[in-house]
Amino acid sequence: MCGIVGYIGPRSAAAICLAGLKRLEYRGYDSAGIAAISDGQLDVRKVAGKLASLEEALQAEPVAGAPGIGHTRWATHGKPSVTNSHPHLSTNGRIAVVHNGIIENYGELREQLIAEGFKFLSQTDTEVMPHLVEKYYEGDLREAVRRAVLDLQGAFAFGVICADSPDELVAVRRFSPLVVGLGEGENFIASDMGAIRPETDRVYVIDDDELASITRDGVELTDLALKPIEREVFVIPWPADAAEKGGHRHFMHKEIHEQADAMHACLAGRLSSPDQPIVLEGLQMTDQEIKGLRKVVFTACGTAFHAGLVGRFVMENLARVPAEVDLAAELRTRDPVVLDNTLAVVISQSGETADTLVALRDLKAKGARVVSVLNVVDSSIARESDGVVYIQAGPEIGVASTKAYTLQVLTIELIALHFAEVRQTAEHATLRALKEALLAVPGQAQTLLDREDDVKAVAEVYYQMSNSLFLGRGVNLPSAMEGALKLKEISYIHAEGYSAGEMKHGPIALVQPDLFTVAIAVAGEVYEKMIGNIQEIKARSGPVIGVANDGDNVIGDECDHMIWVPPSPELVSPITIAIPLQLLAYHMADLRGEHIDQPRNLAKTVTVE
Ligand code: AGP
Repeated sequence: MCGIVGYIGPRSAAAICLAGLKRLEYRGYDSAGIAAISDGQLDVRKVAGKLASLEEALQAEPVAGAPGIGHTRWATHGKPSVTNSHPHLSTNGRIAVVHNGIIENYGELREQLIAEGFKFLSQTDTEVMPHLVEKYYEGDLREAVRRAVLDLQGAFAFGVICADSPDELVAVRRFSPLVVGLGEGENFIASDMGAIRPETDRVYVIDDDELASITRDGVELTDLALKPIEREVFVIPWPADAAEKGGHRHFMHKEIHEQADAMHACLAGRLSSPDQPIVLEGLQMTDQEIKGLRKVVFTACGTAFHAGLVGRFVMENLARVPAEVDLAAELRTRDPVVLDNTLAVVISQSGETADTLVALRDLKAKGARVVSVLNVVDSSIARESDGVVYIQAGPEIGVASTKAYTLQVLTIELIALHFAEVRQTAEHATLRALKEALLAVPGQAQTLLDREDDVKAVAEVYYQMSNSLFLGRGVNLPSAMEGALKLKEISYIHAEGYSAGEMKHGPIALVQPDLFTVAIAVAGEVYEKMIGNIQEIKARSGPVIGVANDGDNVIGDECDHMIWVPPSPELVSPITIAIPLQLLAYHMADLRGEHIDQPRNLAKTVTVE
């Protein structure tokens, strides 16, 4: 939920940390701060508000020296304020700490430390850490940090510096992401690789209960018993500018427009021709295990959950495996029955979503095999899965998930097709046609991106309205739900994704001229029924935006406005339909002047339950 950075080396830590924080701002942006060691003293600058306020404060009163640490916050304990922003200091003012995560036993620790004479200034859980480090500090910073974290319960990634140990930066993690960046005569820490990619493409990915003692010239990794850890250097696969906006006004717009290329990357090496079998490295399942599958359970949150809804549909339709899908936050409340030979498919862009991680652990503990569909390499979910199929989307910075969604669906379609091939549960001709359709998807995506102005023209008609319904059926009910989520989370227009078949059971009572409906009516099993739904809405003076296939010369007369998508097999259509709905949400939010990349109250990665 928050972002941390750190630097140790000959350059100014503040400048490097600020640049890193800007690339982490999507993780949280209600307060920020930096601390560095200069002439044996800690210098700290903290602000409430966005990073721009911290930049102004640093320009007015620079922070010199190194090592240094920085933090951008999404409040979990204690409201956004200067006092509650990180870095937090020890009572003696010699130790500074930045933290991402939640200390679950901070209450009792706080009481105990206050009783021991330590002075707390904030309402945060984090502040117990600098006081614990001070309590245990006897000249060895790593040892003091090690002993401090042994007292902690909960999730954390810490960066710690001490004015009395100016040649060392210590970092440690449990359940919150952390990488150590390797430079020449300088080293870095960050919550994710994108934050430091312009400085280095070589990192250590830190695992739970691992401690890093970092100097200018070296990194020593140990476990919490100080047992040395050998870790391979991970080379970041994308170019330095990949995490920047690349000329677009918003990360979201950049990422929407990256989809055609990203789909090529997702298919590469997996599906090369309609006559070749699908190859899924990382799945880690034998044909025997696939044939023996008795159930598939999809679980995720938010947009990733909508990809799971599509997954359930295509998995049952193609691979003929009983499938279910559940919100990660709900799954654990029902204590699910997990039969043997059950596969859990865990979907997550960040690989760090706390609800999803807990659901994974629950299903795994009940005996399910876990394959995750992820974007962020080596994320926490990746490391707890039996197999991982990466969606290859590249960094997704915009809080509203776009390319990750279409690539999650594409990846899941590949898995379902692969299962159907192995289990021989679909006609060869059907499988070939679907493979052909998936290979055509990147081109269709580019066609849809080239039609952006048509969608913008529709957004200009409706952006001032306050209420909407998104309707779909079958494999495109998730498309309706995802379109509604995109619109509501960045434009703040109330939007509900609903089964069109359910309209007559209640929602049609909402229809009136100032509520617009987006109706997904592409060619397929449910087309006629969707036309009927559109007519029912029009009969009650509700404006309708139809989403239909090029060449459909019936639906245009039924709707007020149209969004056209290239024809494709219905099972594949959720991938392409998502793109104009992303653009519709983007332009309506932009026309309303909203802060698209950082919508209010939201953060890109929700690492708290
Ligand atoms: C989607 O636009 C939202 N940002 C949110 O619903 C997101 O999909 C959800 O928090 C899951 O995140 P994850 O894919 O990183 O697990």
